[in-house]
Amino acid sequence: MPIPLLNLTRQTENLRPELERAARDVLRRGEFILGSQVALFEKEFARSCSARFGIGVASGTDALELALRALGVGAGDWVAVPSMTFLATADAVLHVRARPLFVDIDPLTYTMDPLDLDRRARSLGASGRKRLKAVVPVHLYGHPCDMDAIGVVARRHKLVVVEDAAQAAGARWKGRPVGGLGSAGCFSFFPTKNLGAFGDAGMVVTSSAKLDRRLRSLRVHGRGAGDLQAELGRNSRLDELQAALLRVKLKRLGAWVERRRKLAAEYTRRLLSLSGLVCPVEMPGARHAFHLYVIRSPRREVIRRALEREGIAARVYYPVPLHKQPLHRSANRGVRLPETEKACKEVLALPLFPELTMNELRRVCSAVTSA
Ligand SMILES: Cc1ncc(COP(=O)(O)O)c(C=O)c1O
Repeated sequence: MPIPLLNLTRQTENLRPELERAARDVLRRGEFILGSQVALFEKEFARSCSARFGIGVASGTDALELALRALGVGAGDWVAVPSMTFLATADAVLHVRARPLFVDIDPLTYTMDPLDLDRRARSLGASGRKRLKAVVPVHLYGHPCDMDAIGVVARRHKLVVVEDAAQAAGARWKGRPVGGLGSAGCFSFFPTKNLGAFGDAGMVVTSSAKLDRRLRSLRVHGRGAGDLQAELGRNSRLDELQAALLRVKLKRLGAWVERRRKLAAEYTRRLLSLSGLVCPVEMPGARHAFHLYVIRSPRREVIRRALEREGIAARVYYPVPLHKQPLHRSANRGVRLPETEKACKEVLALPLFPELTMNELRRVCSAVTSA
């Protein structure tokens, strides 16, 4: 039997009666956009992040774009982002007409290196005319960034911090949930995420009442009190059906992350001693949410092909760092990010989802071992 990277049908089947009930209730109420289910989900999800407010939007990409805009990032500003991340992180920067400042990663966690952030912020500042306004740390694969060190650098350079927590629902830094650690935290509920909807959906969480108000306006065209439009916003709303279904799933998020961690620990126990292969680590202070289980090896392609022959899916996140993408290449010609460039050639994600069985996991491990 083939082993997929992720199987969503198993999760949906386990929850089918409850999901169907929630969906039927929405159809019966006939309220489809920004209704009571959205309001409840916003409250419940924000609480799970220890944040005061949650603002449901159409996707994780929109969450990032609107959070940056609500914090005043715009034309002429620069925003520090990692280059080893999904396209959306830097897209959001371009959408607000700012420019990305690509920062290297820590090679153990694949998350933004705070020392490199400091270095690059200093040299941008030294140019005199370029204004670095924000930093977007990405909790890649579910491992939280070192938010203490990033916070120190952000204060030094007066940067607002917008967390890209798209891959990290359920992760914690020093006991505190990610998303609630910066000025705003952005989540994606894309179906494959730790908390996945049945289509696109996203949320910004924040504890600032001012930011909450601004985001609620920006997601509906910039409409404010008295139906007056003070600025140009977007149409980026979360719909009732997604919110109702996500509420059913949110109750399980904690248990699912526990199961991911258990499977990850078993992978590591079985693979750790293989030479030439690096297993994911969990830094002190971090609680990894294991959105992905990513190994690293200079012989990645050999391993990937061997797994493929056994019917086991494995995938590279991400083969091309953003500063080398055609979209960003010309603006970043002299940029060198050695750890990012090396990691992108070596990382490989193995199958991981809460419903993966231990038997399947053992089959993946023996295929990796024989490769
Ligand atoms: C790190 C990261 N940031 C942002 C996003 C964008 O989220 P969405 O696909 O919901 O727009 C994703 C996921 O797709 C992601 O993995």
